[in-house]
Amino acid sequence: MKWPDDFINKVICGDCLEVMKDIPDNSIDTIITDPPYGIGFMGKEWDNFKYDRSINGLLGFQNWMTEIAKEMLRINRPGGTMLIFGGTRTWHRLTCAVEDAGWIIKDTIMWLYGSGFPKATDISKQIDKIKGVEREIVGKHPNPAGSKGNTFTLNQECYLTKPATPEAQLWDGWKSHGLKPSWEPILLCMKPNEGSYAENALEWGVAGLNIDGGRIGNETIPAQKRGNAVNTNFMSGGFTPEHTGRFPANLVISCHCDYQLKSGITKEQKKKLMDWLYENT
Ligand SMILES: C[S@@+](CC[C@H](N)C(=O)[O-])C[C@H]1O[C@@H](n2cnc3c(N)ncnc32)[C@H](O)[C@@H]1O
Repeated sequence: MKWPDDFINKVICGDCLEVMKDIPDNSIDTIITDPPYGIGFMGKEWDNFKYDRSINGLLGFQNWMTEIAKEMLRINRPGGTMLIFGGTRTWHRLTCAVEDAGWIIKDTIMWLYGSGFPKATDISKQIDKIKGVEREIVGKHPNPAGSKGNTFTLNQECYLTKPATPEAQLWDGWKSHGLKPSWEPILLCMKPNEGSYAENALEWGVAGLNIDGGRIGNETIPAQKRGNAVNTNFMSGGFTPEHTGRFPANLVISCHCDYQLKSGITKEQKKKLMDWLYENT
C-alpha cells in the first residue's frame, strides 16, 4: 500500500504488524488502540495466544504486544501520544510491553462504566457435578442474564437449584474470582521528545496534550489558593488563577451518575441514581 493516499481516511482490515510496514517512520501524530487483552475473551481465536493461564501464555501475549508497540513507536512522531486500552487482569504485561518497546508511560486513565457483565463459575454446582448428583429445581431465576453471567442469554429460561450434597451446601454462594468488570485501564504513553517539549513542538509539530482544549465543562472557576484544608502546607505556595472548565483528569466515568453528581442532586434524583447504581455497578 502507498503512503499516504492508501491510508488517510481509510479503514484498513489486516494484521496491524503487516499493515504498519507500509507506514514511514515518524509519520503519525497520535495512536489510539484497543488491542486484545490476552485473556482468551469468549474463546476468541484473536485473544488466545496459546492461552493456558501459565507464565508462558502470558509472556506470549507480552512478547507479541512488544513487537507491535515497537512498530507503533517507529511510525509515531517524537513527542507523539498513544492511548492504549488494557484489561484489568493483564495490563501489567501490556505496560511492560509498551515500556520495553521504548514508550514513556505518562499516566494511566481509569475508565469507570456500568455496563460490564460478570462471569463466574459456581463452585457449589461444580461440586455436585463432580459428585454426579442432580440438583433439585426450586424455582425460576428472576434475572436469567445475571445467573448465566452473560447478557446474551437474556430471554432464556434459567432455574434456581439447591445444593444436593453436604459439600455443595458448605460451598453454596462461593464462585470463581470473576468480579463484575466496572473499569478499564487506558495507558497514556508518549514517544520520547527530541529535546524539550517546546523544541519538539517546533521540530515535529506535536507535543504534550491540548489541556485547555480538553477542559471539562465551561463554567468559570474562581481563583484559588492551592493545597487543602487537611494539610495546607502540602503543594501550597501556589495560586490557580480564574479559569474556564475543569482540568482534564485521569479518571473517566461513562454513566449517567456523572451527570447527576455534577448537576446537584434532588431527593428523587438520588433515589434514581441509587437504583441505577444498584442495577448497573
Ligand atoms: C479488545 S478487541 C477491540 C474491541 C473494540 N474496541 C470494540 O469495542 O469493538 C481487540 C481487537 O483486535 C483485533 N485484532 C487482533 N489481532 C489483531 C492484529 N494482529 N491486527 C489487527 N487487529 C487485531 C481483534 O479482531 C479485535 O477486534
